[in-house]
Amino acid sequence: MTEDTPATRSPLKLGILISGRGSNMIAIHNSIREGRLPGVEIAIVISNTASACGLAVCRELGLPTEVFLSKGRPRAEHDADVAACLRRHNVDLVVLAGYMRLLSPEFIHAFHNRIVNIHPSLLPAFPGLDAQHQAFDYGVKVAGCTVHFVDEHLDHGPIILQRAIPILDTDDADSLSARILKEEHIAYSEAIARIASGNYEFLGRRYVRRAS
Ligand code: GAR
Repeated sequence: MTEDTPATRSPLKLGILISGRGSNMIAIHNSIREGRLPGVEIAIVISNTASACGLAVCRELGLPTEVFLSKGRPRAEHDADVAACLRRHNVDLVVLAGYMRLLSPEFIHAFHNRIVNIHPSLLPAFPGLDAQHQAFDYGVKVAGCTVHFVDEHLDHGPIILQRAIPILDTDDADSLSARILKEEHIAYSEAIARIASGNYEFLGRRYVRRAS
């Protein structure tokens, strides 16, 4: 893989990083299995906790997994192990799917423009933890999710796509989170398909699709 260029190799190999239940990872797996992401495959799923529920699902689905425990380890040292694993598996695109750990600058630099994240808000509103609760408590009328490239700032890099939903008067924070999650499951595969096409460029911090 060459650094700094769009991910246009076929197959496009994903390295998915999780910390928890892994529903976005499963949605991506389903998209691949159902033929909605041609030329894309999951090379490895990596967790930073041994108790991530998503790991058990991977075992059922036959997806390869690795665990690199992050607790108590210096960030750069842990990330170096993760990066080495991603390279061993020839990963082209690093997909953060509920990976609840900040990445070191070294890691972000090593995979420049090859790391994507999904966040459960319409960025730049409500970065950080519990974005759905933040949106609900603030009282905004439209919420949603964002898929973006990862840069050195939290929930900040170029936006690939967003999906918006209205917040209903009957919503509570849990029902809102559940409806945003449904949108996430659509958004992530769509964003990966766009990256796999290679048909995009950056204008400053703007990700734009090239006219075909
Ligand atoms: C998702 O809602 C994702 O957007 C969020 O964690 C959840 C993981 O769910 N990520 C963040 O908040 C990152 N800032 P999942 O493990 O079922 O995919």
